[in-house]
Amino acid sequence: MEKTTLNNFDTDIRNSIAQSDEQQLELSLRPQFLREYIGQKKVKDNLGIFIKAALARSEALDHVLLNGPPGLGKTTLANIIAREMGSQVKVTAGPVIEKAGDLAALLTNLEEGDALFIDEIHRLHPAIEEILYPAMEDFELDLVIGQGPSARSVKLDLPRFTLIGATTRPGLITAPLRGRFGINFHLDFYPLEDLQIIVERSATILGARIETDGARAIAMRSRGTPRIVNRLLRRVRDFAEVEHDGVITAEIATDALNRMEVDRFGLDEIDRKMLTTIIEKFNGGPVGVSTISAAINEDKEAIEEIYEPYLIQIGFLNRTPRGRVCTSAAYLHLGLTPPQPSLTPPQKDLFQ
Ligand code: ADE
Repeated sequence: MEKTTLNNFDTDIRNSIAQSDEQQLELSLRPQFLREYIGQKKVKDNLGIFIKAALARSEALDHVLLNGPPGLGKTTLANIIAREMGSQVKVTAGPVIEKAGDLAALLTNLEEGDALFIDEIHRLHPAIEEILYPAMEDFELDLVIGQGPSARSVKLDLPRFTLIGATTRPGLITAPLRGRFGINFHLDFYPLEDLQIIVERSATILGARIETDGARAIAMRSRGTPRIVNRLLRRVRDFAEVEHDGVITAEIATDALNRMEVDRFGLDEIDRKMLTTIIEKFNGGPVGVSTISAAINEDKEAIEEIYEPYLIQIGFLNRTPRGRVCTSAAYLHLGLTPPQPSLTPPQKDLFQ
């Protein structure tokens, strides 16, 4: 009994060490400067201009809102912005800021020109969001000290800083907050060519040997997402090193991805379960996200933020006012027959 507990404990420690190694690897693959950042050309070009202009005027960069699906490089861009501006970045996330004092502490510790990165900014508590308005607009912190009749408000001057907000759900950002960002970028899923360059760059950093077709095979199944391409590269490299001579060829990559059940479109078990459930249990839809969430036992937010955007992007799912609907392409991909659209109305209707 005791031995089992100790073993579990050891395993837990090993897992957490392994996880932090993985995180370290992931961090080492992130570009540090704008010139190293691959893809998102429009964002990169415009951001480059805004940074140059702010530097030339010796000003802090205007506040930046980055929106787009997870894994596309919002955090990476935030770090790049700070580095290019020659400033420090403090990192936090919407759900982590519980009290007004938490945000006040972050803001008052900033130095002139610093960046404050708030990930998942759509999840900020409304009362805390309001503190951000004067901070962003006038670089002032309005605090209420004390309670009841003796409560009084104080104003503190803040250094001129750049707020960088990131969100996977731009629709959930309130209008007053959105309006206070002078720069607003949307990150799109990456095309195959960009992912292939990213995977080749990452392989070089990791010292992994990869053939062009091997890089392409991994890029094709990475859902347009750099974080996924880098994770799959590390896993495919494991197969290449354990079962082969370490060189990642297209054949080795394809075999490894098949064995990890990542299919030709980069869909995994959860994507397939979601599509199959909509088709088999709900006649292909329309069906609401909450119902899908209950049926496949997956978190509703994860469905909306992670799974659904890519399925919509590749044309497997449509979002309609009455719910989600699977497309014919989804049926065909799963080896199922799509329903035939009825071309003629029933005969009796014609004569009524
Ligand atoms: N690693 C992750 N995202 C990247 C990007 N956009 N460019 C280069 N390397 C990356």
